[in-house]
Amino acid sequence: MAGIVSVVPAGSLFDLSGRVALVTGASRGIGGAIAEILAEHGAQVVLSSRKQADLEAEAERINSKYGEKATPIAAHAGRPEDLEKLVQGVMERFSRIDILVNNAATNPYFGPLIAAELAAWDKTFEVNLRGVFALTKLVYGASMETHGGAIVNVASIGGLRPGIGLGVYNVTKAGVIMLTRQLARELGGKVRVNAVAPGVIKTRFAEALWGNPEILDRVLAQNPMGRIGVPEEVAAAVLFLASDAASYVNGEVLVVDGGGGGEI
Ligand SMILES: NC(=O)c1ccc[n+]([C@@H]2O[C@H](COP(=O)([O-])OP(=O)(O)OC[C@H]3O[C@@H](n4cnc5c(N)ncnc54)[C@H](OP(=O)(O)O)[C@@H]3O)[C@@H](O)[C@H]2O)c1
Repeated sequence: MAGIVSVVPAGSLFDLSGRVALVTGASRGIGGAIAEILAEHGAQVVLSSRKQADLEAEAERINSKYGEKATPIAAHAGRPEDLEKLVQGVMERFSRIDILVNNAATNPYFGPLIAAELAAWDKTFEVNLRGVFALTKLVYGASMETHGGAIVNVASIGGLRPGIGLGVYNVTKAGVIMLTRQLARELGGKVRVNAVAPGVIKTRFAEALWGNPEILDRVLAQNPMGRIGVPEEVAAAVLFLASDAASYVNGEVLVVDGGGGGEI
């Protein structure tokens, strides 16, 4: 039919062979699971976060399962000069970046939004929102503007509706969702930009939630599946959005929360 192009040969929807992926916050948790699933599906994956030793251990874990697929390069997501070196490092080694997963985030403050210090606000925004924009801009300029690609931003259900104690973080994640939609609109011809919005996932980051019986009970009471998620379940959604299986999905926010519904 005119105007409809068959872009995805059957059987290879999730095959990422020959593609280069950059994943931030990849030394553990959701980012580690994302790096692993992308490597498992054939991509060369550059893992980034602040601590080189942790990255090397995670890359080694992935390489021991899938061959030489993982490369560690440390960078602080809140420091533009680090991000420049990161992108330079990936380009020197692989000459392109086909998939960018902006997953690194921080949450230095827990409490009412109105009581937050500006320093905590700035730190959260620097990493969670400015860092996502800065890295996206660098990757676009270095590779995606010419070669195209897919970007997946890790947001949160907290970016879609308010929750207790995580107000500053939630505002950054709402920003990530709007950044995703805006860039999808602007770059959609060449680069697809989507987001995932996880509910409570069992990682170190969320231990204050799932490690607190009162909060955990509240979370589980609202969740039809009666459990919190694990990093691999978010990683599978990222694989979908990064792959040709999602070739006509652009500007979307895929909620991965077990149907959790309400607020934390
Ligand atoms: N777990 C949840 O319930 C949940 C729910 C919704 C959304 N999320 C989102 O999922 C993403 C991953 O979180 P997670 O739960 O997997 O956390 P995690 O297990 O604590 O992992 C966080 C990762 O980010 C890195 N990181 C932290 N600060 C960084 C910085 N300034 N620059 C670069 N890397 C940094 C950490 O390594 P270093 O410390 O070495 O830098 C680590 O690799 C985040 O965007 C988070 O907001 C999580």
